[in-house]
Amino acid sequence: MPINNELKLNIEPMDTIHNEFEIILQEMKNTRNTTRFMELFVQMIEHTKHHFKTEEDIMNAYNFYDKKEHFDEHDNLLSEMQYFYEKAQRLPMFGKSYINEYAYDKFKRHIINIDSQLAMFLKNSNYKG
Ligand SMILES: [Fe+2]
Ligand SMILES: [Fe+2]
Repeated sequence: MPINNELKLNIEPMDTIHNEFEIILQEMKNTRNTTRFMELFVQMIEHTKHHFKTEEDIMNAYNFYDKKEHFDEHDNLLSEMQYFYEKAQRLPMFGKSYINEYAYDKFKRHIINIDSQLAMFLKNSNYKG
């Protein structure tokens, strides 16, 4: 499943990671098995840590001017995801509504408002991947 074109940044590691996130999210939406759903939730958290670390390493390497704001936004998104995971352990419905109604929107907004700024900076900085 290729990433939604409006979310493509043309920075290879970022597009690949965003695509992987969408695949996990889609599988979570599709599964009707709660055990599987919770397994995927753990996978999503691990993937998100890797996602953010990858972008943060790039921002550090290229000394991105707005990295403080971007790092803070990553911390918020990850804490929120972990909060919903904790809740979902006792009340799976809670996690399901986060995934079905909220997570993609959050993710999309981060890419459009924040990641795109980084992508533009990298293009102007001669980013080599
Ligand atoms: Fe990202
Ligand atoms: Fe980001």
